[in-house]
Amino acid sequence: MSYYQRHIFFCLNQRDGENACAQHGAQEAFDHCKKRVKAEGLAGKGGVRVNKAGCLDRCAGGPVAVVYPDAVWYSFVDSSDIDEIVERHLKQGEVVDRLVLPDNVGR
Ligand code: FES
Repeated sequence: MSYYQRHIFFCLNQRDGENACAQHGAQEAFDHCKKRVKAEGLAGKGGVRVNKAGCLDRCAGGPVAVVYPDAVWYSFVDSSDIDEIVERHLKQGEVVDRLVLPDNVGR
C-alpha cells in the first residue's frame, strides 16, 4: 500500500505577463482544499496529501490540479468545485466528471 491513498497537486505557477494558474485563483483553491481535507479528517498517512506544484504544462485549462494514483486532471472555478472534489473523489474515490480536464488541453 502506498503511503498516501491519494495525492492531489495544485499548479500554483505565476508567470510575468503570461497566462498562469496563479492568476485564476489557484492559491485560494489550494488553501481551501488543504483546509477541507484536514477538516474531514482525511489528511496524513493512509489518507490524502495536498501539495503545491509548479507548472504542470496544462495552463490553457488553468487553474488545474491532478489526483494520483488515479491520474485524474481537474479544472475548477471556485471553492464549491473544490468541495466536490474533496467529498466525492478524495474521500470516496469517485471521479467528478463535470470538472475533468479534457485530454486535448495543454499549454
Ligand atoms: S501555469 Fe498552471 S499548468 Fe502551467
